[in-house]
Amino acid sequence: MKFKKALITGITGQDGSYLAEFLLKKKYIVHGIKRKSSSFNTSRIDHIYDNKKYKNKFFLHYGDLSDANSLIEIIRSVQPNEVYNLAAQSHVGVSFQLPNYTTQVNSIGALNLLQAIKDSGFSKKTKFYQASTSELFGEIQEKKQSEKTKFYPKSPYATSKLFAYWITKNYRESYGMFASNGILFNHESPRRGETFVTRKITIGLSKIIYGLEKCLYLGNIYSLRDWGHAKDYVEMCWKVLQFKRPDDFVIATEKQYSVKFFVEQCFKYLGIQIKWFGKGINENAKIIKFNQTKYPNLKKNMTVVRISKKYFRPNEVSNLIGNANKAKRLLKWSPKRSIQHLIKEMMDSDLELIKKIYISQN
Ligand code: NAP
Ligand code: GDD
Repeated sequence: MKFKKALITGITGQDGSYLAEFLLKKKYIVHGIKRKSSSFNTSRIDHIYDNKKYKNKFFLHYGDLSDANSLIEIIRSVQPNEVYNLAAQSHVGVSFQLPNYTTQVNSIGALNLLQAIKDSGFSKKTKFYQASTSELFGEIQEKKQSEKTKFYPKSPYATSKLFAYWITKNYRESYGMFASNGILFNHESPRRGETFVTRKITIGLSKIIYGLEKCLYLGNIYSLRDWGHAKDYVEMCWKVLQFKRPDDFVIATEKQYSVKFFVEQCFKYLGIQIKWFGKGINENAKIIKFNQTKYPNLKKNMTVVRISKKYFRPNEVSNLIGNANKAKRLLKWSPKRSIQHLIKEMMDSDLELIKKIYISQN
């Protein structure tokens, strides 16, 4: 039996690690591109690499989206059936400080990869998935955003991803490539990068619980997002490439919550009652009721959340919610995990992580 070969860029990231696990379970041979870094960047995939079961099924290659030669080399040697382009400078806030770099990686990087497939003569053999994003909708033009909603990117990140979206379509139309866009709304997990808001909250609260920090500082807590679970969403990346034709799909839960709600739900899960005071930049949350025996590091009236100007963006996307009807209808998909499931999983995982750090320090 001949196994399918998949190549994943961004394999060391949140989605790359879950997608690798998913594809290995589906009996794929998985190749991943990792970039050179001065410190270890494989913690999310070490458990796969170290698993004897995957000894001849999981391979890593050094490469970089900004280095076209490395991509050509890898495509030619791997000859993948499916390429998932998940690599990116994926932080919207950071993209305002690194607009050029973000564009090099997210726009030119996607082009480099498509061109590497074409130049290697695999336009008709290799399917291509581009990690597009709900950030394309930015200043929303419709209440719920679907594949038909007009784009209005509001950051260097979103603008760079707009180019990647269109170049993917362009290679589909010009060269008959099976090249598809998954327009994914926010998705989170215990493997989420620590500077994205959900993980910042779950790790921040865990540090407060263990007395390692006193307060969590956030930006716009009224921002609204459609948050799904990364595990549900990587299944979609795969489904997008199994569809009978290349196409573009919005993937979303169709439910929307504020950052403030996410904070409240995390405290609720911990059994801690908080109350909000003040307005605008002075808004803050204090602890009202909690179990002192369970949480010895907490104090009544302790201010645990404050607002900091530092985390506001020059141009904010404040309201996103998707319409995933097309994916539901054509790909027979609906998300399995709720926001409560997500919060429980993330809080439990970060409490465990911080507990280990706390024990090692005491
Ligand atoms: P992530 O955790 O930030 O992972 C990004 C990955 O890209 C990491 O493996 C990173 O490597 C790699 N990378 C960065 N620059 C690179 C370069 N120049 N060359 C090669 N690799 C590079 O992101 P994610 O949350 O998994 O998201 C995956 C993709 O989906 C991204 O393209 C993101 O923009 C897009 N997306 C994400 C969401 C979401 O809510 N998560 C929603 C829509 C779209 P290091 O580990 O070395 O940093
Ligand atoms: N990161 C962060 N840190 N965001 C904060 C903070 C904070 O302290 N306080 C409030 N926010 C707000 C942001 O302003 C934004 O409106 C919202 O929380 C979500 O921010 P992030 O978690 O950083 O995600 P994002 O929506 O900007 O971008 C993520 O989702 C996109 C899909 O819509 C990233 O994963 C992108 O790569 C992805 O394309």
